[in-house]
Amino acid sequence: MTDSSTHTPVVEFSDVSLSFGNLKAINGVDFTVNPDELFAIIGPNGAGKTSIFNVLSGVYRPQQGSVKLNGHQLLGMRPHKIARLGVARTFQNVELFANLTLVDNLMLGRHVKFRYGTLAAIAWVGRARRQEEFHRAAVEEIIDLLELQAWRKLPVGLLPYGIQKRIELGRALAMEPEILLLDEPVAGMNLEETEDTARFLLSIRQEFKTPMILVEHDMSLVMDIADRVLAIDFGAPLALGTPAEVQSHPAVVEAYLGGQAAPADGGGH
Ligand SMILES: Nc1ncnc2c1ncn2[C@@H]1O[C@H](COP(=O)(O)OP(=O)(O)O)[C@@H](O)[C@H]1O
Ligand SMILES: [Mg+2]
Repeated sequence: MTDSSTHTPVVEFSDVSLSFGNLKAINGVDFTVNPDELFAIIGPNGAGKTSIFNVLSGVYRPQQGSVKLNGHQLLGMRPHKIARLGVARTFQNVELFANLTLVDNLMLGRHVKFRYGTLAAIAWVGRARRQEEFHRAAVEEIIDLLELQAWRKLPVGLLPYGIQKRIELGRALAMEPEILLLDEPVAGMNLEETEDTARFLLSIRQEFKTPMILVEHDMSLVMDIADRVLAIDFGAPLALGTPAEVQSHPAVVEAYLGGQAAPADGGGH
């Protein structure tokens, strides 16, 4: 656990509400994410998890609230600007350039953030080459960390689903984000792939110290690796605390688990 009183949180999501007509997709949600923290948001399908990510990344504009990154207000900014400020995400359904290779997908991730390339190349070839080498080296480091060496040759659209999810994680990481948003990173994965993903998230945290928000409807991954958890249902907060506190919270047991006790560990697939 980190002590939130000693530094500015990376993310301050304050009293946010978002409606679509009569539907309150987000209803008064508050949380902060501290540097180095792995923060999780859990809730059943339709609870509002992806909507929170869409607000954080500027895709949805809430009717109420405030969303800050390192103390700077994000509301009203366009998604590409927010991405360049350091909000990177993976999607519930993989979104990669299917015809491109692993390396090209990761290089594109860097391009979004660092906008290197043509102009520099015209102005000063030497500098552009050094930049290219620098970005290649960064991409290779991520390929090593995520153990993707075997998947270089084919267009990513032809690779197994679990590998595509891992490449998408690599692309987000290639942006050197201030905050990494992971939308159901193990959805559709088998147990082995899920355990691999947990291991990769922990190595990302150790190697890059990237703060992360992990959205999941399945509690077991979250219980193993999150520092703190926010549980939501119908857009509204139910409980916020350590995984153990949230798991045993009566409102969570009742609303999220349909009145049944949560499994203590990986039995929830
Ligand atoms: N663009 C949209 N237009 C209308 N309703 C939406 C839109 N996006 C999300 N919703 C609704 O908001 C609620 C929360 O959705 P979502 O954030 O995707 O939930 P989760 O990711 O937790 O499954 C759902 O009822 C969903 O149908
Ligand atoms: Mg979702």
